[in-house]
Amino acid sequence: MQDILKQLNDKRARARAGGGQKRVEAQHAKGKLSARERIEVLLDEGSFEEWDMFVEHRSTDFGMDGQKIPGDGVVTGWGTINGRLVFVFSQDFTVFGGSLSEPHAEKICKIMDQAMKVGAPVIGLNDSGGARIQEGVASLAGYADVFQRNVLASGVIPQLSLIMGPCAGGAVYSPAMTDFIFMVKDSSYMFVTGPDVVKTVTHESVTQEELGGAVTHTTKSGVADLAFENDIEALLQTRRFVDFLPASNKQQPPVRATADSPDRIEAALDTLIPANPNKPYDMKELILKVVDDGDFFELAPGWAGNIVVGFGRIEGSTVGFVANQPMVLAGCLDIDSARKGARFVRFCDCFNIPIVTFVDVPGFLPGTAQEYGGIIKHGAKLLFAYAEATVPKVTVITRKAYGGAYDVMSSKHLRGDVNYAWPTAEIAVMGPKGAVEIIFRADAGDAKKLEAKTEEYRQKFANPFVAASRGFLDDVIQPSATRPRIARSLAMLKEKKLENPWKRHANIPL
Ligand code: HXC
Repeated sequence: MQDILKQLNDKRARARAGGGQKRVEAQHAKGKLSARERIEVLLDEGSFEEWDMFVEHRSTDFGMDGQKIPGDGVVTGWGTINGRLVFVFSQDFTVFGGSLSEPHAEKICKIMDQAMKVGAPVIGLNDSGGARIQEGVASLAGYADVFQRNVLASGVIPQLSLIMGPCAGGAVYSPAMTDFIFMVKDSSYMFVTGPDVVKTVTHESVTQEELGGAVTHTTKSGVADLAFENDIEALLQTRRFVDFLPASNKQQPPVRATADSPDRIEAALDTLIPANPNKPYDMKELILKVVDDGDFFELAPGWAGNIVVGFGRIEGSTVGFVANQPMVLAGCLDIDSARKGARFVRFCDCFNIPIVTFVDVPGFLPGTAQEYGGIIKHGAKLLFAYAEATVPKVTVITRKAYGGAYDVMSSKHLRGDVNYAWPTAEIAVMGPKGAVEIIFRADAGDAKKLEAKTEEYRQKFANPFVAASRGFLDDVIQPSATRPRIARSLAMLKEKKLENPWKRHANIPL
């Protein structure tokens, strides 16, 4: 028996050693943690249960039969984050560069299948040189098996990808199909084709970091949601993030006890809106004053800043916030902000997370760049997402709600459950000046008349009462009472039941 136990311990030690001390040191020298160290930081202490640490590859080509490392380049299993179950895979760059072999893929698939059966999130820590080159098509098959599971799991369990090293070629498409991507600055990159191929094909000279680093993907492409300074920060913030998410589409969002009263009045909100309607203000101030304990987890702050999305809590329960941001492009909707908002709204709707929308939108961004870029289809994504969402939807119009953008931003007409406006709201087809310039085009030279007509238009439409008189708003509320009014609405909506007509699936304008 002693011998057998020793054998077991030796085998475990071999698996835990990964690619060996030298390669682990090289990993550390790049500022990266090892695959197992990352899991230790991510999960509650002592909660990790590893699976498949004895799995080995089966290739024999290119001398591979002589090189077997138990675990085969990925550490998989399950554990808890603040007591809640999650499944994890962590690619081990010290073993064949974390490259994906057939058995490596089978290990990932196994935990994904189990996560689906029990209803728990999957968190992937990606650090891999891509397909195991010695394996050829078997490795490509392995990727496709993971892709298929990403798709089947989408909308059933939350899927998170942390990119903590290379992630290139077709390998990017697994993270791309997960719900959120977090990256680490300077040590991770994602691209479909690397700098060398880019140089050959387009003659552009670009570094890995410029092409697909964390800053690029969180400011230019919008592929990633957040960029962190290092592995530790990325992992600790992931722990904080997971606390907001339900474990599956069959669960309600988690509830965290709070001493923050839902009845809290915020006097400062009564003066948030500047007297000048063209002056911006920071919509995040409103969000921070409304959520429990000022705790707001913002996603994609560096990309499409004209819309703010993220999670907060009201009375302890997770709420998704979507808000136009007057500080960036006057809060207008454009291609990127529509895509960012739409994807977030759809995530919330998948996972029973109520949506609170704060509206201050002057319309869609004009210009050839927007039209040629397909703003018609992209803008429709946000409209579509709000219209199909059946979770509780509470909307507060703080200032402008002009034109089609009024309809889009969770209006009553798109099955908004509770629609409020502040007294400062202006709900109209367009701003008073633009409206008068069109209606009274013939009087273009008569500045006095135009001014008088602009004032008349403002008096008539630049307020919430026309919409309120039609029942398009449920009430006009005091800004300082926004948190209590939202909290009461969400409590009223707790048992909301609404189903869309049966269909195979909708055809969102992609
Ligand atoms: C097998 C690999 C590997 C791979 C790296 N290694 N990538 N082994 N298959 N794909 C091994 C190396 O041989 C080396 O082994 C160790 O991992 C570390 O690699 P280094 O090159 O020394 O590290 P570094 O300098 O940091 O460079 C990392 C890298 C580079 C940029 C990822 O290794 C690289 O370019 N690898 C190949 C990437 C690639 O072309 N992959 C296939 C792409 S196609 P030793 O024993 O020396 O430590 C693809 C398609 C997916 O992925 C399709 C999905 C549908």
